This record gives sequence, structure tokens and C-alpha cells, in this order.
Amino acid sequence: MLTQQELKQNAAQAAVDYILPMLRTDVIVGVGTGSTADLFIDGLAMHKERFRGAVSSSDRSSARLSALGVRVFDLNDVQTMPVYVDGADEIDAGLHMIKGGGGALTREKIVASVAERFVCIVDESKLVQKLGRFPLPVEVIPMARAAVARELVRLGGQPVLREGFVTDNGCEILDVAGLAIAQPEQLEAAINNIPGVVTCGLFAIAGADIALMSTQDGVRELR
Ligand code: 5RP
Repeated sequence: MLTQQELKQNAAQAAVDYILPMLRTDVIVGVGTGSTADLFIDGLAMHKERFRGAVSSSDRSSARLSALGVRVFDLNDVQTMPVYVDGADEIDAGLHMIKGGGGALTREKIVASVAERFVCIVDESKLVQKLGRFPLPVEVIPMARAAVARELVRLGGQPVLREGFVTDNGCEILDVAGLAIAQPEQLEAAINNIPGVVTCGLFAIAGADIALMSTQDGVRELR
């Protein structure tokens, strides 16, 4: 029986194998944030001579990449990336995701939007029939926290401030339980439209292009 850590490692390694054919000395790779992304970074760094560098979605991932000798680029200096690789807190069969358990959702959405392909790396515990068991992270401008929370309650959620946490953008996170996410794209748009929301952790309007999901029987590709 593989442990969850071994399952994460297998998904991360599958992503390294998946992107190896895309690597060239002028290629920049988009890199996500989290414990599964950390394992991907470790595997990717073993091939650091084969690509130019990375754009990362968090200070944490940037530090890990740099420590392993991978050059980290500012997104403003990069026009295109063939691929963005990141984990998720939940994913459904349509490849919609909830992300942001690590609080990096906004930069994740930005970097993913510039990449040509989003490769999601998860273990099978993250696959759900319907999104919403994991509380939805919403990044908010601090002065708008209470106003945004009231709107989220109107949408049926129970927002809770992530205590003592400040994002890389200097903002705060509301973790929203109890949302019935029947229509992920519509809910993503509705929440992102609330004044004071930076972005929400629904990745549905632009979901993953492929998920490499590790199971006890090997890594499955979901498309
Ligand atoms: C961070 C994220 C992560 O991708 C998500 O939380 C999954 O993390 P892990 O791989 O540690 O389970 O969205 O903001």
C-alpha cells in the first residue's frame, strides 16, 4: 500500500516525465506551489541544464527552485511557457479545481494563464464528484474582508478568515465552507466579481488541460 507521500511523489515524477520532451534551452517552465509541487521542483531541478528557467507562483517555490540551481524569472520578462505544473486541493472529472490551500491561488491563476497547458498533479484522494468539500479559498484586499464575507454568506457560504496568514501579495484569505458548487464556472465569475476579491480558488473557467493522478495501481491521465 503506497502512502500519500509516495503517491504525491509518483504524480510529481509523472509530470517530470511528461514535460521532458518539451524542454529546450530557451524554454521557461511554470511551476506551482504546495507539497506535490515541491516534489515536482525537486525532480525538475535534476534536468536544469535542459531548460532556461522557471516562473513560479510563490516566494516559497521560487526559493526552492533557486536553492536547487534553477533560474527564476519574473513573469513580466516572459512571454510564453509551454506548460504550468501544479497540484490541487480538489479536482473533478471535468478538470475543474479548487486550489489555494497553500494560499498561492492568485499567482497560480496568473502564471497558469500565461502557460499553454496546465498539468495538474494529484493523488487520487483529490478527485471528487462535486467540488466543495474542501473550503474554497478566496484572496481578499484586507479592508474589504468583512464586506466580501457578507457577500459570500449571501452566496450560501460560511467564510472564515485564515488567521495569521498574509499572501505573497499582502492580502488575506477567507476559507469558505458550505458552498454548493453545482456550476463552478458561474460561481467563479460571481465571486471574482465581488469588489475586494483578488481572486477565488476556483479554477473552472480555465481548468487543467490534463491531470496526472496517482493511484495505488499507477498514474492515470485524466483529460
Ligand atoms: C497552493 C495550492 C496547492 O496546489 C494545493 O493546496 C495542493 O497542495 P498539496 O500538493 O500540498 O496537497 O493550490 O495554493
